[in-house]
Amino acid sequence: MPMNEYLNFFKKNKIFTLAIILIILIIILVIINILIFNHSSFTIDNETIHKNNDNYNMQINYPVFSNNEINKKINKIIDEEKDKFLKKIDKKSNEKNELNIDYNYTIKNDIYSIQIRSYSYTGLNRDFYFNDLMLYINSKDNTELTINDLIDQELYNVLKDKCYQYLKDKEQDLNLYDDNMIKDYLADFGKDILLSFSEDELNIIIPPFKVSDDETDFRIPLTYDDTSQFLNNKYFTFPQVEEQQPPIQAPSTPRDESFFQDKKLVALTFDDGPNYKVTTFLLDELDNKNAKASFFLVGSRISSQKVLIKRMYNSGHSVGSHSYNHKNLTKLTDEQLMKEINDTNELISQITGEDVKYLRPPYGSYNKDLLNKINMTFILWNVDTLDWQSRDSQKVCDSIINSAKDGAIILLHDLYQTSVDGALCAIDKLQEQGYAFVSIDEMIKLKNIDLKTNTAYRYFK
Ligand code: NI
Repeated sequence: MPMNEYLNFFKKNKIFTLAIILIILIIILVIINILIFNHSSFTIDNETIHKNNDNYNMQINYPVFSNNEINKKINKIIDEEKDKFLKKIDKKSNEKNELNIDYNYTIKNDIYSIQIRSYSYTGLNRDFYFNDLMLYINSKDNTELTINDLIDQELYNVLKDKCYQYLKDKEQDLNLYDDNMIKDYLADFGKDILLSFSEDELNIIIPPFKVSDDETDFRIPLTYDDTSQFLNNKYFTFPQVEEQQPPIQAPSTPRDESFFQDKKLVALTFDDGPNYKVTTFLLDELDNKNAKASFFLVGSRISSQKVLIKRMYNSGHSVGSHSYNHKNLTKLTDEQLMKEINDTNELISQITGEDVKYLRPPYGSYNKDLLNKINMTFILWNVDTLDWQSRDSQKVCDSIINSAKDGAIILLHDLYQTSVDGALCAIDKLQEQGYAFVSIDEMIKLKNIDLKTNTAYRYFK
């Protein structure tokens, strides 16, 4: 059709033409709407409210975002906090009452972790009140996220342990409440947990008076090395540590039996790892010293460290299971128990290509019932270096040297550099005294042990 015929067609069909124009207009409006409202660039501004009179002092700092829903939520919180505060004030007395609301934030990838804290002093004895709130915003699309969008529930168990360990380590410097109150607090962990994600670490924020008399909060830092496997990789990315690994060496040839002639045998065992930095260093040094060891891996740490574990195995160290989540295995239902065992074994054998023979039950906790249920060999220990407690390489070194005996199994953790330094120091001294450091596999072979499943070994005769 030539052009003028098109025009004639539209002149004759006015309603049709109007409808087309309307549809085009709607499409343009929708596009503008999407561009401006949903994908408007993320901004964060600061607003302040300051009121000072005879009766009270109010200082409020709050963030303003490019998302009106979030701003409404924040305004509502601030109004509630103001109401609560004003209700508590006795207008007739001339005490100084104070309300402070402030915020801070950290950034990891596109995620902003925004902590808003309201605290106030009211009344004669200056009652201290505070309220904390954590907001997570994805700056990429300007939307709010919940903590459950960002983490796997399993992280709570890891955090609980880490928090407890951290508090206990610093016990002397902190006015901690008694142990039961801390355990009570940690038992409820997850309900209103405050986590902030920054570029290099994850912080657990424990507000004032939860675990201590101190008016300050605790920020407990955790490495992403320990936690990244529980974080949603839709939102968080981590440098690929595996790429830094040297290329995997071919499996090392077993050491010749003549090497062990007249030597006393000791098995160093490392639990709770792997830890990228510490374990890599340990593997390098064990190679240098021609020493073998055994590693009991926590299943939840395996998928991020496959290359490292392959190297561990190929270097001739024994690789065993320490369960998936490091729970007390005697306290689990059969179903939970089998999952802890099977999931870990599957992950390890995918890497090594072999069935996993050895289990070290977390906390060394086992009973007859557990032994009967699991068709693996339980490897316990007869020397506990208490390395996780002392975090002192000299103490770890002394402890190994003082209790080394032929056939000993020594408990260590490759999470701490101090444990590894202590072990390396002991290897040097004991090798001079005629000891050889062997893997559990080597120990069993060299001592002609008729290895049994459903049996626990603390040392080898
Ligand atoms: Ni352990």
